[in-house]
Parts: sequence; C-alpha cells; structure tokens
Amino acid sequence: MPAPIFADFKKLTAHAKDNGFVFQSSEIYDGLSAAYDYGPLGVLLKNNLKEYWWRSMVQLHDNIVGLDASIFMHPKTWKASGHVDAFNDPLVDNKISKKRYRADVLIEDHIDKVEGKLNKEIAKAKKRFGDAFDETEYRATNGNVKRYQGEMDDVAKRLATAMTDENMEELRQMLVDLKINDPESGKADWTDVRQFNLMFSTQLGNIAGEEGKLYLRPETAQGIFVNFLNVQKSTRQKIPFGIAQIGKAFRNEIVARQFIFRMREFEQMEMQFFIQPGTQMEWYNKWKETRMKWHRALGHPAEKLRFHDHDNLAHYADAAVDIQFDFPFGFKELEGIHSRTDFDLTAHMELSGKKLQYFDSETKENYVPYVLETSIGADRLFLATMSHALRTEMVPGQDDENNVRDVMKLHPAIAPIKVAIMPLKRNKPEIVEVAKGIFDELRFKFDCQYDDTGAIGKLYRRQDAVGTPFCVTVDFDTIEEGENKGTVTVRDRDTLAQTRVRIEDLVGFIGPKVDMAVLLAAGE
Ligand code: GAP
Repeated sequence: MPAPIFADFKKLTAHAKDNGFVFQSSEIYDGLSAAYDYGPLGVLLKNNLKEYWWRSMVQLHDNIVGLDASIFMHPKTWKASGHVDAFNDPLVDNKISKKRYRADVLIEDHIDKVEGKLNKEIAKAKKRFGDAFDETEYRATNGNVKRYQGEMDDVAKRLATAMTDENMEELRQMLVDLKINDPESGKADWTDVRQFNLMFSTQLGNIAGEEGKLYLRPETAQGIFVNFLNVQKSTRQKIPFGIAQIGKAFRNEIVARQFIFRMREFEQMEMQFFIQPGTQMEWYNKWKETRMKWHRALGHPAEKLRFHDHDNLAHYADAAVDIQFDFPFGFKELEGIHSRTDFDLTAHMELSGKKLQYFDSETKENYVPYVLETSIGADRLFLATMSHALRTEMVPGQDDENNVRDVMKLHPAIAPIKVAIMPLKRNKPEIVEVAKGIFDELRFKFDCQYDDTGAIGKLYRRQDAVGTPFCVTVDFDTIEEGENKGTVTVRDRDTLAQTRVRIEDLVGFIGPKVDMAVLLAAGE
C-alpha cells in the first residue's frame, strides 16, 4: 500500500475550517489578523490536549500543584520581569512593499533556505548510494554540504551575537550582506531596524496616564512567580516542587502569519519547577527527557521532533532549548525548556521589597530558589497534532487505487468525538430507536455524535475526517431474531475492522481504548 500523504498547509487550514476546528476571528468583517476561534470540534480537541498536559503535570506529580492567576497584574510585575525594557523584537519595514517584518525571522528564513539546499544534497546522495549511504561520513566530506553547513553556522552565530548585543545596525547589515529580499516584493530596500515592544497595554478605569497603564500578560509565568510563597506556604511543598498553569497570553507580534502558529492572543501551558541553586543542569536534562517522552506518547514520531539549543539566551536564562516540531512549513519551536536561575524571584523581591525566599528546614537555610521552566503553547500543540494526524491514504483492505480517504489519526484519548452512533437505515423506526437509545446512554461516558444524515459509507468517511476512533452501527441483525440480536458493529477508524459487540458491553469495549490513563501512562 502506498505511503499516506500528509496534508500540506493549505489543505490543513481548509480542513480545520470546513470541519469546525478553527475559524478566523471576526470573519464576517474580513477577519482580525492573528486571532482565531476554535469551533465545536476544535474546542474539544484543544481541551483534551490541555487535559493531557494538566493531568501529566498536576495529577501524576505529587510535587506539582496548579494555579490560575489573573491576566492583569500590577504593572511593576513587568518592570521587574524585564518585559518593559527587554521584551522586544527587531522590526524592519520594506520601503517598497510597505510590509513589516522581524529582521531576525528574515535571517532565520535565510538559514532555513540554505538548510533546504543542504537537505536536497543529502537526499540526492541517499538515492544514489542506497543502503551503502553513510550520512555522517557524507556530511563530513562532501564539499557542497560542508559549504552549506559552514554558511548556516556563520550566519546563526552572527545573528546570535547581534541579538544578544541588541545591535540593530548589525541586523540591518546582515540583511544587506546576505542579499535578503522582501518575500512580497522581491526588493531589498529596507528601513533601519528598530526595537518594538511586544506587550499590549490598556488603561485602568479610574487612573489616568502612565500611572494607570496595565499590560495584558505576555507570559503566564509571572503569575506563578509572584505567587511562589503563597503556594508554597499553603501547600507546605518542599523544594523541589512545581507550579503549573494554563492560561491566555498576549503578544503584539510583528509578523503573525502561519495560522495558529503565531497569534496575538494565545494560550500557554507553563510549569515552573523550583529547585536548589546548583542543581539546575540536572533538572534541565530531566525535564528535557520527560517532555520529549510526553510528546512521543501522543503518536508524534521521532523524526518530527528535535531539540534545538537556543543560540541567544533570553534575558532571564542560563540555558535554554526548544523542542521543535516538523510543521508543514518546516521545523519550528513547539515548546521551550528554560533554566531561569533566580532571575525572576530576585527581581520581584527587589522591586516589591517582599522576601521571596525558601526556608530549608533541614539545613536551616534561607535561599532564593532557582527555576526550571517548561513552556508550551496549547495552540501550537494543536497545530502540530492536527498536522501529523491529517493525511490522505488508500482505504485499508481495498485494492482500488481510487479509493482514498482523508483521515485524522489522532490518539483515541484526545479525539474530539470518541464514538459516532449511526443507524444503518434512518427510515426504519426500530433501528433508529435502538441507535438513539445507545447514544442516550453512551453520551454520559464519552463525547458522542449521533448521525443519520447520509448513507453509512459517507458517514464513516465524515467521522474518519475528524478523527473519531469508533463508529457504532445499528443494523438489521441488531433487531432481528438470531444470534446477533442485541449486538451492534463497532468499526475501528485505523484498521476498519468491524467487531460485533453486545449493546450492554459497549462501554466496557470502548472505554479502555479511549481512556486518557493509557496516554498518561505512555507519556510519563
Ligand atoms: N515563559 C516563557 C515563554 O513564554 P516563549 O518561548 O516566549 O517562552 C513559550 O513561549 C511557548 O509559547 C512557545 O514555545 C510557543 O509554543 C508558545 N508561543 C509563544 N508565542 C506564541 C504566539 N505568538 N502564538 C502562539 N504560541 C506562542
């Protein structure tokens, strides 16, 4: 059977809209850029992903507890955290197209292009040498590959230095030296590069001017830092322990393309792990491994996930790595793992004048803990999950090459609909009555859908396209005298196997297969 074809970006966004996963915000007014709404199936899938994250963190760890902090925080929070002064992106305009870009992203795209050429060379050689191909050896010896690798390394290093030094002139010079043109106009007439703060601000009702300026939080983490002692004291947690939170964050992104990959309003799932100073590398490695395993359990293959060390560290970090995912537009950041030292707690302590220290009852010492952070966007996880799940494949067991289907191979535990119930004949009242009875019962256990709006083959395809792992069909055998009376068929999305199951056994048959516990155990 030919390999499945994964959806390209255009197909993915169309599928998301047509099947009620994701809509453009305010579409009837031509949309608001970088804001999206989750439709009926989208919200179920997103909630399941968030539940998987939450339960992995909070339910499975007796030393990680939850929090739901407010979006608005005292404005001094953002001064202390460094966001007022340093949460900037380098902005550049193209004088001809009048389009606005992030200079660092233009340069990263240039690196991606060179990497594309390098990968092409490798793919060609793989084809030529077949099984005898030794990629490591080829990378070390082939002239073109070495040249491309050298170019990528040089540009990445120069970019990292310019970003760390906040050297806007150097970034502009790089655009010129690398002959980077505006992707829109193909021309290279760039303005100066300048810093642009990404925080959205608003005004507190009763205070005018700067005094009343409030920010929409650009990360959820600060709600955790300012509550560090509240949580520690109220839960009597001992270091090491973590605080987990899921919530909205807002960033005035300069470039906000790529669907839900980069939004101005998005959701983060962050966990701050408070540790003893000096142990950060041990925890950094532990959380890297834990988080990668968590992603793999969702069914994301090893070749679609990779670690990418940060070339330039954020103002708060002494080590940082991204887990990148191979999105339809290439490998990009999905999750960040950051060793944040005691930067945040110390800064809040200094600006608030309040002690944010931990008292170690064994050593009788007070100290400011270090923090290891894992931070993932729920929307990016949604996009990664959907992009790997959605594929076009030949219908299993059918030889006819024209018999293809769109199917979303989601892990059953996160599928928006777990069971679809359908009568084989919608004009046969006895069949419909049984099917509706099954729906009425199963909906207390699972997210279910009752569908009788088409022929059974069409209904199956519809459920395949949204990832429903099981379809229950009530047919003539269910109602007629004989050994199958009182049974229904349960169709498996992936194998298309049909099993006859007694109606009263349905919960026991389907339940363990869609249970989040299976996923949690695999991802732990
Ligand atoms: N507290 C650390 C922090 O916020 P980050 O790397 O800026 O670190 C963490 O963001 C994660 O949040 C990213 O890995 C990504 O998944 C998600 N994220 C960041 N900006 C986003 C945006 N504009 N749209 C969607 N997701 C975003």
